[in-house]
Amino acid sequence: MPVDRLVIAIDGPSGSGKSTTARAVARRLGLSYLDTGAMYRAVAVAFLDAGVRPDDTAAVIAATSGAVIELSLDPDESWVRVNGRDVTEQIREPRTAQNVSAVSTIPECRADLVRRQRALMDADPRGCVAEGRDITTVVYPDADVRVLLTASPEARLRRRAGDMAGKLTEEQLRDQVLRRDRDDSKLVEFQTAAEGVHLLDTSDMTPAEVVDAITSLAEEAHP
Ligand code: DC
Repeated sequence: MPVDRLVIAIDGPSGSGKSTTARAVARRLGLSYLDTGAMYRAVAVAFLDAGVRPDDTAAVIAATSGAVIELSLDPDESWVRVNGRDVTEQIREPRTAQNVSAVSTIPECRADLVRRQRALMDADPRGCVAEGRDITTVVYPDADVRVLLTASPEARLRRRAGDMAGKLTEEQLRDQVLRRDRDDSKLVEFQTAAEGVHLLDTSDMTPAEVVDAITSLAEEAHP
């Protein structure tokens, strides 16, 4: 690995601002960007399209291992394909969000995706900014900079409501943000920072302030 290669791992619950932040940090530092949540979502689309029921664990595992996932690592471009089909829009639909925990709560599916995520993070010789729930702890615990973003439930609901621009009812919004985090945290601990992980509460920070804080940590790690 070249000495000046830089890997930044960012975890956090939905609405913590991690996607916006990770993308902006990657752009500023000239690194690739990996949205690992998009991979879980792409698998959810694949199993739903195949007519697999979310409670059919064996079939969800098979759909995961068979899924060919391609996604943009360019922070200025956003597209995701699964099994050759563009699912960029579909992965953000409420139906996908409602079913994605069927993938993320199965250890075999996680292990499969974690392996692929490491390979994608190692693909760019300059380095990568990756975001998800278990990047700092499982996928890349050796990252140069590891950050856990948190925000109050109110701030997270407000941000997700803004992202979805009125496309969701209040109930769908609460389901997406709070119920999903409860489900997800059964398998991965992403609410408290592991040793060596910087905790950043973004509730009262602007997106630019969060990007500045992470860039400063990167400069400290690689002066
Ligand atoms: O970040 P997101 O909302 O796009 O993530 C979608 C789902 O995938 C979410 O329910 C949690 C799960 N996920 C995960 O378990 N581990 C990751 N590294 C990324 C996402």
